[in-house]
Amino acid sequence: MSGLLAGKRLLITGVITDASIAFSAAKVAQENGATVVLTGFGRLSLVERIAKRLPEPAPVIELDVTNQEHLDGLADKVREHVDGLDGVLHSIGFAPQSCLGGGFLDAPWDDVATALHISTFSYKSLAMAALPLMGRGGSVVGLTFDATKAWPVYDWMGVAKAGLESANRYLALHLGKQGIRSNLVSAGPLRTMAAKSIPGFSQFEEAWAERSPLGWDLSDPEPTARAICALLSDFFPATTGEVVHVDGGYHALGA
Ligand SMILES: NC(=O)c1ccc[n+]([C@@H]2O[C@H](COP(=O)([O-])OP(=O)(O)OC[C@H]3O[C@@H](n4cnc5c(N)ncnc54)[C@H](O)[C@@H]3O)[C@@H](O)[C@H]2O)c1
Repeated sequence: MSGLLAGKRLLITGVITDASIAFSAAKVAQENGATVVLTGFGRLSLVERIAKRLPEPAPVIELDVTNQEHLDGLADKVREHVDGLDGVLHSIGFAPQSCLGGGFLDAPWDDVATALHISTFSYKSLAMAALPLMGRGGSVVGLTFDATKAWPVYDWMGVAKAGLESANRYLALHLGKQGIRSNLVSAGPLRTMAAKSIPGFSQFEEAWAERSPLGWDLSDPEPTARAICALLSDFFPATTGEVVHVDGGYHALGA
């Protein structure tokens, strides 16, 4: 098959609905020649049903990124479907309700710890779990929401994303010698299940619609998916520790 990702074997996490950024990434990847293996969290039969809507049905492996047994067993389970990996997408985020929607000053540590475990630390955990399959060279990609600024209602998720952006640079530092790149896509607001769980998310929607120089479609994850696929491809061979904004240009403006 021809295409930007021809011959590439990709592990894609984070599909839960067909609005998931990961679903769109898997679709664009397959359309561009990649072989895709998915992981799903919790509701496996739902993820399997969604996976059937891809151009090519993709196998689904169970992965809770906070479960060490799942992480330890991941490489063997992936090997049942492909003989190695060229790229991995981390499209995972979660914070308990107390951490979002204006609760910054009151959220208890246990809840913040959960947010950081799932949304920040797991970027490294996933990369390490996939490492035995990547040989010499590969691309790890994750998703952030511009963490250089404090946003209303994003609260501890913003702190988790700031940590993720730093972890991205440290992963680039520690895996560079093995030819493995680590990069993030900083997406504008998209109407996914994760976004719906943030009380007050509509504030972002209005701001983006009003101010993005290129305009912004909240229900179209494809521009984000394309950037993910570009970073997973051979077309960014000397780029690592980077954050690529796919936000209609919103980040570039002051007022
Ligand atoms: N939607 C947006 O506006 C937006 C903007 C920028 C960045 N992001 C980021 O994009 C990524 C994907 O989110 P999305 O918007 O596609 O929403 P989504 O709800 O479709 O995906 C989030 C995924 O995280 C998974 N997940 C949660 N806990 C997990 C765990 N313990 N182990 C494994 N997986 C777990 C869920 O199963 C789900 O598939 C997240 O990192 C999110 O923060 C989203």
